[in-house]
Amino acid sequence: MSPTKVLFKLSGSIACYKACHLISRWAQEGKEVQTVASAAALKFVGASTLEGLTGKPVYSDLFESGRQMAHIDLVKWADFSLLCPATANTLNKLANGLGDDLLGSLFLAHDFAKPYFAAPAMNTAMYRHPATRESLGKLKSWGVHILPTGRGRLACGDTGQGKLLEPDLVWESVEHYFANLKGPDRKPLRLLITSGGTEEAIDGVRSITNSSSGQTGARFADYFFKRGDDVTLLKAERAIPPEQPVEVVDFATFHDLDNQLKGILGRTHFDAVIHLAAVSDYSVDHILIDGRKVAPNAVGKLSSGHEISLQLAPNHKIVDRLRHYSLNRSMQVVAFKLTQNASEKEGERAVLDLLRHSSADIVVHNDLSEVDPENGKHVAALYRGGVLTERVTTKDALIRSVESLLVNSPAKS
Ligand SMILES: Cc1cc2nc3c(=O)[nH]c(=O)nc-3n(C[C@H](O)[C@H](O)[C@H](O)COP(=O)(O)O)c2cc1C
Repeated sequence: MSPTKVLFKLSGSIACYKACHLISRWAQEGKEVQTVASAAALKFVGASTLEGLTGKPVYSDLFESGRQMAHIDLVKWADFSLLCPATANTLNKLANGLGDDLLGSLFLAHDFAKPYFAAPAMNTAMYRHPATRESLGKLKSWGVHILPTGRGRLACGDTGQGKLLEPDLVWESVEHYFANLKGPDRKPLRLLITSGGTEEAIDGVRSITNSSSGQTGARFADYFFKRGDDVTLLKAERAIPPEQPVEVVDFATFHDLDNQLKGILGRTHFDAVIHLAAVSDYSVDHILIDGRKVAPNAVGKLSSGHEISLQLAPNHKIVDRLRHYSLNRSMQVVAFKLTQNASEKEGERAVLDLLRHSSADIVVHNDLSEVDPENGKHVAALYRGGVLTERVTTKDALIRSVESLLVNSPAKS
């Protein structure tokens, strides 16, 4: 059970009505919930609703007579803070240290010995906007626990990322955080996991891709999330989504994945990247239609009856650049090497070759002939620094072994 004094902050999103469910749940569970609402939030839910749910008057005005030290007193009083829903506007203000309203002043006075959670809720374009991405990265690096968003139909009619995480999942994330704090366990890791296959467009409806389903990536993400780690899953649009409410960012092409990695790793300090994505070695450079050169994706749909040839251009190896992209130069890199019908010796050679050119610390080798998802078989060999450390036979064992290597790794200079 999480601590009892909750400073529940609302900013002006249509999702304020959903936050009321969570306020009500915590109040019924016996917590003392003090709400603070921005002026915009009070346009979405009434002060009477918030007072009725908590039994306490809502705070909103920084300069309210008799409550002028609220921005300090409330921080001292609370066990933790939750900003839910967190609007783009408020997140961007907090990330810039603005204190011109009560939410901003409370954040400036926040004592980071106490957890501060934020559950963003906004339209997909607002969520993807570089200002918002940068603010989320900054806030995370200061110790704010940014919860992932849900995906689906938004109030504006668009479909995508940015929807407030369902209130029961916000509840679960916060409770989960405190449950893990109590465990004997280990320090949480900040992990970036890539999964699924890149897709290189030929025309508007055809592409070159691979058979990676993203299932292993989703399993890794779910496992580490449940262990209390802060997980971001960068997955192919069609890849299997995780079951847990981890933060998900989608990619499509090789260049898209490469750019997203540069951006995400450059903004946020990650302890490790688990690079499971199946990345295309080639992108389509151009198409020759009856000898005429056309850019990929320039034609809606190539019609039949023409002589078509595709000219492919080699892509660089993303795994070689991950540490270079990263804010944290001692970030650990977990890479995967898949071979087909390779002997043990050939497998080892492939791993050593990958280690020679990449920045990988841990390499997981598996051979297609020994992977049988139908029967739960997933034979893999784990290498650290070129030395075989372990062989496992199932996906679960693989995930636990990767965790153990990450946690027990020698500190890098
Ligand atoms: C109907 C409506 C719904 C809105 N929903 C959101 C939202 O979900 N997320 C968001 O970031 N902004 C949303 N906005 C815009 C914010 O309310 C606006 O940026 C406001 O200034 C936020 O103020 P605050 O961050 O101080 O609460 C919405 C505006 C309207 C009119």
